[in-house]
Amino acid sequence: MRLVVAPFAGPNERTTVTDAAGTDNHFDLIVIGGGPGGYGAALYGASAGLRVAVVEKDKVGGTCLHRGCIPAKELLETAHVFRSIGHAADFGVEAGAPTLRWGTTMARKTQVVDGLFNGLSGLLKHRKVTLFAGTGTLRADRSVLVTGADGETAQLTGDAVVLAAGSVPRTIPGFDVGGPILTSDEVFELTELPGRVAVIGGGAIGCEFASMLSDLGSQVTILEALPQVLPGVDKDVVATVLRSFKGRGIEVRTGVKVTGHTPGGTGTSLTVEGADPLEVDAVIVSVGRRPLSDSLGLDGTGVVVDERGYIQVDELCRTAVDGVWAVGDVIATPGLAHIGYAEAILVVKQLLGEEAVPVDYAKVPWCIYCQPEVAFVGLSEQAARDAGFDVVVSKHRWGGNSRALIIGDTEGMVKVIAEKRADGTAGRVLGVHMSGPWVTEQLGQGYLAVNWEATVDDIAHFIQPHPSLSESFGEAVLSLTGRSLNS
Ligand code: NAI
Repeated sequence: MRLVVAPFAGPNERTTVTDAAGTDNHFDLIVIGGGPGGYGAALYGASAGLRVAVVEKDKVGGTCLHRGCIPAKELLETAHVFRSIGHAADFGVEAGAPTLRWGTTMARKTQVVDGLFNGLSGLLKHRKVTLFAGTGTLRADRSVLVTGADGETAQLTGDAVVLAAGSVPRTIPGFDVGGPILTSDEVFELTELPGRVAVIGGGAIGCEFASMLSDLGSQVTILEALPQVLPGVDKDVVATVLRSFKGRGIEVRTGVKVTGHTPGGTGTSLTVEGADPLEVDAVIVSVGRRPLSDSLGLDGTGVVVDERGYIQVDELCRTAVDGVWAVGDVIATPGLAHIGYAEAILVVKQLLGEEAVPVDYAKVPWCIYCQPEVAFVGLSEQAARDAGFDVVVSKHRWGGNSRALIIGDTEGMVKVIAEKRADGTAGRVLGVHMSGPWVTEQLGQGYLAVNWEATVDDIAHFIQPHPSLSESFGEAVLSLTGRSLNS
């Protein structure tokens, strides 16, 4: 007898384990976890002809689809629409002051998520991936035990197992989730827009929520422990984000220590070392995420977990156990959906006996969707200098870009960091760090440049469409050749 899923339930239903006697429970690939790393491995493997099973205790799509990237960007788009209408009169379009119906906002967010969930479910079904609804644990003999919500179990065997259990938000001592204390998980379930919000942690999640909530009318304070928000981003680019945040009334306090809070009424009072208490209606704790390896039952399996909970893997995502791989947020690589995809492809290529090139984590694309958007690849100017490079940089602001003026969005800059050659000229492009309109959609050129180790002369030869936002990247590179057009 075998326990199989009622494969693809509707978006708001939880899938259940049901009996399906007499079928084979051996797979080419078993994936535990149905987020981007897991479903990426399943879809890519199935498209190459592998027989694949996915074990998922909640809904396929994972954090990214249900509690992360997708709902966050959807709400940020609402903020974009709100801002645009607020400036409509600049274009001679009289629309009045915008007002927000939070219920409609959240309903649209859910509709987008549900549509993508249905699409993903259909795609897995179409590729004949078998979905097991339950918690998957690895056993010492490398088989996988599935335990359904009702306690039913199924045992699966596979030629390969991919662990892709993902991550959950970290919290900090004294800030248990509940009432006014939220993590990203709870923000997506808010029933009304909070009036005053403290965001603890100024990373990608913190800055995206701060930007979105402020644009929609909340009064937002970011409290960051380090001297700079947005770790990893070039300082000049961060400065453009801070200028915009300040102009829009978002208070950013860096180098602060939040020591606790005292709930009162519907909100709470935050204690910040060396400062007055901060009264807020909601606190969003966005201090990073923690890997979910403890749900995989890895004790005694030979798979090694480090002291922070990350599964240890080599550059090919292999764990210490032959035939067991781990991908996505459960390993200590950048916690980004597209990194999960890349690692999934890397693993499946190994299963297929194809050449597998390790992910170059120093050169992956990063995109943060606050206003102004931030996108970067490769080294910042400071990181390049710290790594021992002699560098030349070029910075271009959007005020000189015709398309940016046309759309009325000139916040931010494009900064290109190149290696300085012995003769003083600019050579290989080491990093591209940008903020401004649609830079998350513009990073592709910089990504290819850095990863193909292109020189500024290589890139300057190519043509940018006019008028376009992408001209700023072209101009920034062109000026590194010592000549320029529009700047
Ligand atoms: P993060 O690690 O990017 O940033 C957390 C920030 O919190 C850091 O700046 C850290 O210094 C600060 N912090 C830590 N403890 C603190 C404390 N006690 N008080 C004040 N500040 C404190 O983590 P984040 O933003 O929560 O994101 C989690 C993961 O999700 C990351 O891997 C991130 O890359 C990924 N993500 C990426 C997005 C994107 O690329 N658009 C969007 C959302 C998340």
